[in-house]
Amino acid sequence: MHNNPIGVFDSGVGGTSIWKEIHKLLPLENTIYLADSANAPYGEKSAEDILKLSIKNTELLLEYNCKIIVVACNTATTNAISYLRQTYTGVSFIGIEPAIKPAVLQSNSKTVGVLATKGTLSSSLFHSTVKNHAEGIKIIEKEGKGLVPLIESGKAASKECKDLLKALLTPMLAQNIDYLVLGCTHYPYLIPVLKELLPQHVNIIDSGEAVAKQTKVILEKENLLNKNNVSSLHKFFTNADVSILKSFLKNVDASIAVYYLDF
Ligand code: DGL
Repeated sequence: MHNNPIGVFDSGVGGTSIWKEIHKLLPLENTIYLADSANAPYGEKSAEDILKLSIKNTELLLEYNCKIIVVACNTATTNAISYLRQTYTGVSFIGIEPAIKPAVLQSNSKTVGVLATKGTLSSSLFHSTVKNHAEGIKIIEKEGKGLVPLIESGKAASKECKDLLKALLTPMLAQNIDYLVLGCTHYPYLIPVLKELLPQHVNIIDSGEAVAKQTKVILEKENLLNKNNVSSLHKFFTNADVSILKSFLKNVDASIAVYYLDF
């Protein structure tokens, strides 16, 4: 069981931003990653469809005997994780949600921007997080419509993407945000462009490191850490373009194999 992989899934390549944090913190762990790019973006789908896709991905990871499942997608977490936890009780699930709490605690202007998908922003889990943790703080939500398809097609650094981001950020900056919460695992790949567009005093927050830490905490608690592995193995599966997924993994120092799989 200790050798069994950590399973990670996302609607596409975005969850590799989380996978990288997990691998950095837990380099001895074997992993399996599912990029459901053929069905991206999840953020524009109904809650019912997001749930169906999350079930499909979970069942595939369970066939690979994953010892823990990381839902490396805010949209899938906010719409499906409670169902997954209730249904697949033999395995723990780690989810990711927009990091509202740390932004709220640190904001001086008492105004925080949240960039996320429609599926995340409309979920009841997101609404309750805002209600419970953002008292006295103005939360400016923006749907990053169009960003995920651009990132999925390798165009994160394009002019089209920069212009779209500028239009999304302008109303947030007009209201004096000093924190921008990235509520989608694809968006850390926009950080270079965001840094060009945002004034220096605006801090960018994402939840990748926190997810990796929580994965470690749960594996420790369940006595499932892979302590003796000499070289960990990492299998990545995509149901779309293998070369795009590979391009998101090019500087990773690990033993990686990327495959096409019709799932
Ligand atoms: N990466 C995902 C998230 O964190 C999903 C984006 C999408 O497919 O719309 O929300």
